[in-house]
Amino acid sequence: MAKPAPKKPAKKSAITKPRTAADIERSVARQLTRAELIDELNKDLAKEFQALVQYVQHAAAMTGPQYDAIKAELVVHSNEEHAHAISLADQIDFLGGVPGVDVARALISPDSKVMLEQDLDGELDAIARYRERIAQAEMLQEYGLRRALEDILIVEEEHARDLQDALSL
Ligand SMILES: [Fe+2]
Ligand SMILES: [Fe+2]
Repeated sequence: MAKPAPKKPAKKSAITKPRTAADIERSVARQLTRAELIDELNKDLAKEFQALVQYVQHAAAMTGPQYDAIKAELVVHSNEEHAHAISLADQIDFLGGVPGVDVARALISPDSKVMLEQDLDGELDAIARYRERIAQAEMLQEYGLRRALEDILIVEEEHARDLQDALSL
């Protein structure tokens, strides 16, 4: 009878590392607290204020007839970022936090295409942040917050698509 082939050593994968019950328990213990969630939401709020300011500046400063349609769209985006800021500030207050007034630094450029790229980077960052924040709201069973964040996320995804279209990406 042929000898069974020697067993290959199990491949170690950094990604699919087996999780023990203790690992899972530790990760639950690492869940963020309500206070930490409020801090994260205040950072999101500062970036909404940035987006609002940046869109106002870019809509006014962008030059070239090929940018007429997107300039009008940037004014709409600015108003929507304002609405997001109001929603986040309300949610922070509901959670027992103090809504901040910090404004993250707005980006400007003398080049209209670069402005659109700056705006798109901001939207992609917002999409990633709100996806994470929705998962955190779910974890803390803050379902009203999750709903408010989902509504914001849908609009950020529309913003990203508008900018990608304008950049012909
Ligand atoms: Fe926004
Ligand atoms: Fe946006």
